[in-house]
Amino acid sequence: MSSFFAEEPDWYRAEAHGQSSTATEPPRGPSLAAPAAPPALRVAVALIERDPNLRDCLAGLIGQGVSVFSSIEELAPRLNGTPVVAILGPSCIHDGDLASVDRLIQQRNEVGAILIAPELSTALLRSALRAGVKDVLTLPVTAEQIFEAVERIANTLKSSPAAQFPGQTKPDDSDPGEIGKVITAFSTKGGAGKSVIAANLAVLLAMRSDRPVCLVDADLQFGDVSVMLKLAPQHTIVDAVASIDRLDTSLLQSLLTLHPASGLYVLAAPLEPAFADQIGAAEMVKIIEVLRRFCSHVVVDTPAYFNDVVLGLIEVSDNVLLVAGMDVPNIKNLKIGLQTLRLLNTPKEKLRLVLNRANSKARLDVSEVERTLQVNADALIPSDVVVPQAVNKGVPVVLASPRSTVTKAFEALADLFLPVEAGKRRRRR
Ligand SMILES: Nc1ncnc2c1ncn2[C@@H]1O[C@H](COP(=O)(O)OP(=O)(O)O)[C@@H](O)[C@H]1O
Ligand SMILES: [Mg+2]
Repeated sequence: MSSFFAEEPDWYRAEAHGQSSTATEPPRGPSLAAPAAPPALRVAVALIERDPNLRDCLAGLIGQGVSVFSSIEELAPRLNGTPVVAILGPSCIHDGDLASVDRLIQQRNEVGAILIAPELSTALLRSALRAGVKDVLTLPVTAEQIFEAVERIANTLKSSPAAQFPGQTKPDDSDPGEIGKVITAFSTKGGAGKSVIAANLAVLLAMRSDRPVCLVDADLQFGDVSVMLKLAPQHTIVDAVASIDRLDTSLLQSLLTLHPASGLYVLAAPLEPAFADQIGAAEMVKIIEVLRRFCSHVVVDTPAYFNDVVLGLIEVSDNVLLVAGMDVPNIKNLKIGLQTLRLLNTPKEKLRLVLNRANSKARLDVSEVERTLQVNADALIPSDVVVPQAVNKGVPVVLASPRSTVTKAFEALADLFLPVEAGKRRRRR
């Protein structure tokens, strides 16, 4: 790795933590182990913390690749155009420090910042995002969380030599040729299987695609995508809406949660139903438009009713999966839903009928259902006990039971959007 600083870069080391030296050798955090296989980060990592004890503790946690500073003002003169991720310690939460960060980031687009806060309030998150901080972690923090955030920010830095989403092509606002496809799962009945279908389809697409794939939980009151994928999101869609005016790919990327087993990115639903009110159709559409700039596919899970947000989503979607269970109320409601979509002038070509529990003991005949709806089914997902078992484990069934018939059905569904051959490689994480 080349030298990025005019002077001898004693504090700066590219090629990641664990291999390089710092001006002052920081002690290692005694109880916090580094991740098993630390990723190679080709970016400078600077820790800024006024309190010497906290500084030592965090430096120990991050490892030997980090360089330590007691203020932003101390870091600024050392910059020379090389990408740097600045980790702001808990003493930087004050307005004065955030104002310095804001100035620095505005002047130097090679700098990305992460804040480690003692605790997170909406007010602090808002001020941090306004100051241009890309991610906020809260204490207690693990080395893994820091590395994941650093890597994510490093990927977004303008002149970063390693500006790649992990294992994927660089998300790039300037590449209009690669606008991602939006697939929304919708049904007019709760429990039809929208979330199971959206999550498993998104996981398969993420493993097939060589670009990022994102699952958006737009069931804003009762979203359960995070539970189904056993994720503990640090950020949700509410944070994206809080900074909607300055939302760009890098800010939005910092709000996504990675599903490590598949490489899927998730934009989580609000943690509390009350926050759902803060998200309108315009905000949702803007978020989707930003996501599709760097994702090959954006899969959206929805609630079981039409509202402005759902209508906005249907409008911007390339495809709408109409999910229906195989019983009379499901089919009756789907028929009403189809009529509503027709009234809204939704092009029929967008719609894909997905019949869930298609082998159900209730014995509704698929061809009879198709005749009633005057639409042919594009995918049939069988009923299988492995589905609720996987849901309860927080593992998508396509990973929990890869040989099951239900997984085969999900693979056929994914083939409609990205056949295996079209994906340049399969990614398993
Ligand atoms: N094909 C299936 N076979 C067996 N159980 C299923 C199937 N699809 C969904 N389920 C069960 O139904 C429940 C409801 O599905 P979910 O996707 O949450 O519905 P929705 O999002 O439409 O409300 C899930 O927890 C799952 O256990
Ligand atoms: Mg659901």
